[in-house]
Amino acid sequence: MVQKRKMMLRRLDLVQIFLIGGCRMYALYEPLSLHLASKRDRGRMKQLLWFLVWFVWGAMGTITTQQFFAPQNSNMKITSPIRELLVLSELQCAMACKQNSTCLSYSVTYSSGSLICRFGYRYDEPRAADADSKFFYRDVPAGYNLVPGTRSYVKMTVQSIPGSNTATACKNEGSLLVSSTDEAVHNYTKQLWANRPSGSNFVVGGVSVANRNTWIFPDGTNLTVTGLGQAGFCSSEPNGDPGYCLHFWVHDPFPCWADTPCSTIYDGYICEIKVPD
Ligand SMILES: *[C@@H]1O[C@H](CO)[C@@H](O)[C@H](O)[C@H]1NC(C)=O
Ligand SMILES: *[C@@H]1O[C@H](CO)[C@@H](O)[C@H](O)[C@H]1NC(C)=O
Ligand SMILES: *[C@@H]1O[C@H](CO)[C@@H](O)[C@H](O)[C@H]1NC(C)=O
Repeated sequence: MVQKRKMMLRRLDLVQIFLIGGCRMYALYEPLSLHLASKRDRGRMKQLLWFLVWFVWGAMGTITTQQFFAPQNSNMKITSPIRELLVLSELQCAMACKQNSTCLSYSVTYSSGSLICRFGYRYDEPRAADADSKFFYRDVPAGYNLVPGTRSYVKMTVQSIPGSNTATACKNEGSLLVSSTDEAVHNYTKQLWANRPSGSNFVVGGVSVANRNTWIFPDGTNLTVTGLGQAGFCSSEPNGDPGYCLHFWVHDPFPCWADTPCSTIYDGYICEIKVPD
């Protein structure tokens, strides 16, 4: 089971930011207030100031806490970051990650007085246990649903598209074409496409290498069959050439896997996001 835990912002971070921000605003307000005629005007000015502080405080807290989650064991450090940054606070790291859509996870490491922020471009970015670090990953985009009993979120998109463009379409959402070697995920995706018109084809992850019987999936798992109709394949499949794309073929009586050239125009594709444990 995936256990989601919201990132707990240290209030200290916010206090830090608002003390500085508040002082600056007050510095602006003081000379200004000399020109304000009445006490009532000053009172209103103060009210406005406090309203602004309250509003920005609330908004920042909400935005950042909704964007990132910690896995069950969050004391982890990203091992090969795409980018590293020295930061003043955890909040600064979260904000920097949020601003770049390629950043899907980050870790912060406390090291002799400084704070190192490391960014990852995968949800489940490779990482190592580290007591001085904390790891967070981005919330999954809308439209992805959790497959019960797994940590996979999947989404089917119905759209005419060449197979060769589907991996990029998933990547733009931070996901990969679905790797159907997990039985629970495979069963779940069946529900998604089972009701589509007969004859529809939906791209899933999987490309044949060396020969039609050897397959590689986006998550790095491999599958080797020895003939027709094995694993999830239709009774007459696979029957293509190396480099062909794997797809679900919705046909009677049993929808199943088939292989066709990746340049084929398909009826849609299925993406998957695996979130960290
Ligand atoms: C996002 O981060 C990546 C990796 O560090 C970088 O190549 C890219 O230029 C950044 N994009 C923006 C808009 O800052
Ligand atoms: C997947 O579906 C098959 C056939 O309905 C069933 O036998 C199997 O137990 C299911 N597996 C999982 C993990 O849900
Ligand atoms: C899968 O196959 C590829 C190429 O044949 C190989 O490089 C890779 O190590 C294999 N992966 C696993 C998990 O066996």
